[in-house]
Amino acid sequence: MKRILELKTGEEITLRHLSKSDVEGVWNNFNEVVDEGIYIPIFFPVRSQLEKDSWYHNIKKEKEVCVIAENQNNKIPHNIIGQCEISNSNWDAALHVGTLGIIVKKEYRDLGIGFNLIDLAIRESKILNNKEKIILSCFSTNERALNLYEKVGFETIGVRKKQFYMDSQYYDEVLMELWIDDYLNKNE
Ligand SMILES: CC(C)(COP(=O)(O)OP(=O)(O)OC[C@H]1O[C@@H](n2cnc3c(N)ncnc32)[C@H](O)[C@@H]1OP(=O)(O)O)[C@@H](O)C(=O)NCCC(=O)NCCS
Repeated sequence: MKRILELKTGEEITLRHLSKSDVEGVWNNFNEVVDEGIYIPIFFPVRSQLEKDSWYHNIKKEKEVCVIAENQNNKIPHNIIGQCEISNSNWDAALHVGTLGIIVKKEYRDLGIGFNLIDLAIRESKILNNKEKIILSCFSTNERALNLYEKVGFETIGVRKKQFYMDSQYYDEVLMELWIDDYLNKNE
């Protein structure tokens, strides 16, 4: 699986499945978003190599889908400019449900990379990991992400008020879901 995107900046971006050599880049992106401090409910960056590697091995073991966006003109680990993971539920009885997480590096946002990452990850998670429904959650203040999820076709199924408290501020958590077959029927 591979998709080439030509950005309006003229740069060529490759979307493909995660490899071992991408792990550092993926975690750099994660840590940058932790440092931004307004998008995900996590306080501390991940520095442990063991934790990073075991995340990778778990994805491969569980056949979870992680699609990455790569700019081959950038040096490793800065070549990895975005990622979308669809992970398995912890519940035995919810293996048909995948949980979506996505990050695009700050300087590459609003160029359509997020949309393409989600599109590919949804399709691959049905083919490779038998997913039927994708769920996610998002801060109600994250207008860009909410706009993107609605554009893809995610429906809001609830809001947990003041679910998170960060930097002296409460955040509502928006819960969303999407049935893959509905998505595929609309986007064949
Ligand atoms: C959310 C995120 C993954 C989206 O990726 P992206 O590559 O920027 O997404 P896209 O360019 O495909 O789409 C973004 C859309 O939001 C729109 N948008 C941008 N800012 C917006 C705002 N303030 N309000 C509403 N819409 C906005 C863009 O115009 C674009 O829509 P369009 O394609 O119809 O023009 C990325 O911005 C990101 O990594 N953010 C920080 C981490 C994060 O929030 N992760 C998700 C946690 S739930």
